[in-house]
Amino acid sequence: MKVLAVYPGSFDPVTNGHLDIIRRGSRLFDRVIVAILRNPEKKAMFNVEERRRILQRAAEKMSNVSVDTFDGLLVDYARRCGARVIVRGLRALSDFEYEFQMALMNRRLDASIETVFMMPSESYSYLSSRLVKEVVRLGGSVAGLVPRDVERKLGSKAGKTRRTAALGLRKKRKA
Ligand code: PNS
Repeated sequence: MKVLAVYPGSFDPVTNGHLDIIRRGSRLFDRVIVAILRNPEKKAMFNVEERRRILQRAAEKMSNVSVDTFDGLLVDYARRCGARVIVRGLRALSDFEYEFQMALMNRRLDASIETVFMMPSESYSYLSSRLVKEVVRLGGSVAGLVPRDVERKLGSKAGKTRRTAALGLRKKRKA
């Protein structure tokens, strides 16, 4: 029987750690759907379409990987796709509690769907989208930690944010 897995997340933005998990998942499962959560409540740096395009480009060489978006309950989405597995990356101990809670809640909601945790390469074990955004916002380099087009886009987005903030400050001083 072919096994279809869903790899859900915010991917704001996708990091090389995420891509490492996608690559590992694509070797293990017959098909992997990378599913971006559409969450209008969460303020994102990249909109859902940008994230979808970036992920599609980054995964284009993996023929059994596709990219989609979802809202609502993850288990409902997985069931609609016919997926029996949810893939989550597990980096350090700090991830464990949240991931454990989520996996058990998902199991309670649908016991036929199994969560599988995968470890990224140790070189990405400290990497998160949140840290990437913070480093870029403060002018640091994330080269080698995210795909090249993410790095470029992050640079221009952070530049825009800094310019807007400076403009606001100047206007405030004039007033
Ligand atoms: O990359 P993230 O932000 O850690 O991903 C979290 C995600 C998208 C996997 C999680 O928030 C999720 O599954 N949301 C969908 C809503 C849902 O099913 N909630 C109950 C899960 S316990």
